[in-house]
Amino acid sequence: MLTLGIESSCDETSVALVEDGRRILSNVVSSQVVMHAAYGGVVPELAARQHLERLPGVTDLALKEAGRTLDQVALVAVTRGPGLVGALLVGVGFARGLATEIGRPVVGVSHLDGHLHSAFLGAAEPVLPMLVLLVSGGHTEMVLVTSPGEYMVLGRTLDDAAGEAFDKVARLLGLPYPGGPEVERQAAQVEVAEALTRFPLPAIRTEGLNFSFSGIKTAVRYRLERLDAGERGDPGLVASAAAAFQHRAIEHLVKKLVLAFDQVRPQSVAIAGGVAGSRALRLAAGAALHPEGGRRDRQGRQLPSPVVLAIPPASLCTDNAAMIAAAGHHLWLRGGGSSLEVDAGLRLG
Ligand code: KG4
Ligand code: ZN
Repeated sequence: MLTLGIESSCDETSVALVEDGRRILSNVVSSQVVMHAAYGGVVPELAARQHLERLPGVTDLALKEAGRTLDQVALVAVTRGPGLVGALLVGVGFARGLATEIGRPVVGVSHLDGHLHSAFLGAAEPVLPMLVLLVSGGHTEMVLVTSPGEYMVLGRTLDDAAGEAFDKVARLLGLPYPGGPEVERQAAQVEVAEALTRFPLPAIRTEGLNFSFSGIKTAVRYRLERLDAGERGDPGLVASAAAAFQHRAIEHLVKKLVLAFDQVRPQSVAIAGGVAGSRALRLAAGAALHPEGGRRDRQGRQLPSPVVLAIPPASLCTDNAAMIAAAGHHLWLRGGGSSLEVDAGLRLG
């Protein structure tokens, strides 16, 4: 069954063709990042207008790359939220028109459900129950997936999303948007221990499986405001600040991931969303869940590790339509998804 997915919730215009909810035939992403970077963040009206202009061409390209024609498409899947209202309306309107033209059904998909499904697009069959750390620019949630489309949200951020914190700290450091990759690039230039000495930041603490990022972001701001003259002239300051922040943010994410794993003991663990593109996060999560010699408690007793730690390739972690097609396919199989109502604040579960 061939699904055509459409994603337009934020600043990527994307169309994909996916076979049986698993096999990607094409996944074209036309990013507006360069355009929005000039404004230091996403401008909603510009995003909507760009989606409108780009969707027809991106669709043609996706079909061409897949070597398929529109009449071979069995289902259209489109993001209906969460995201920017205008951008979502453009995508849903386009999907409706396309589905009517070819006489096929169309399903409205949650963008977050899409991110969770990026873990289902790999080569191996997903092993359920699966614990997913969903970390994007707008969301940070710990989710237990018991079957495709069946979720339990175990924890979420109490304030900023992880990616949002990376973007805000990048802006404080004078780095361009989107901040995550820039912070990671800067951070790679220094050792963490040295960075924390030059730019001390406390570890983040929250109750249970919830997250918080606004305190650490404020700590970066205060520290920058109180630099002495010598520190201000230090050419390595930005790299140290980036490395210290990245270390604390990732330490927080990984600590909660391990805590959740020990509480629910799922078969597998996945990390999804734009922040999962972080190499530093991938390495830290891998080292925490699959350390050399296995996991041990303080008494040296062996602790279990997940059977599989799945982190999709970076191209499937950031916004793309293949994950929307995968989510739409599974939603359709379950007989759901008739709503095409745009919901900017749509939540999981
Ligand atoms: O999932 P996504 O493409 O869009 C949303 O649905 O929000 O995620 C984008 C977010 C941005 O905040 C970006 O800064 C962050 O993911 N990001 C990263 C990295 N790459 C992207 N954050 C930290 N480290 C990275 N390497
Ligand atoms: Zn996203």
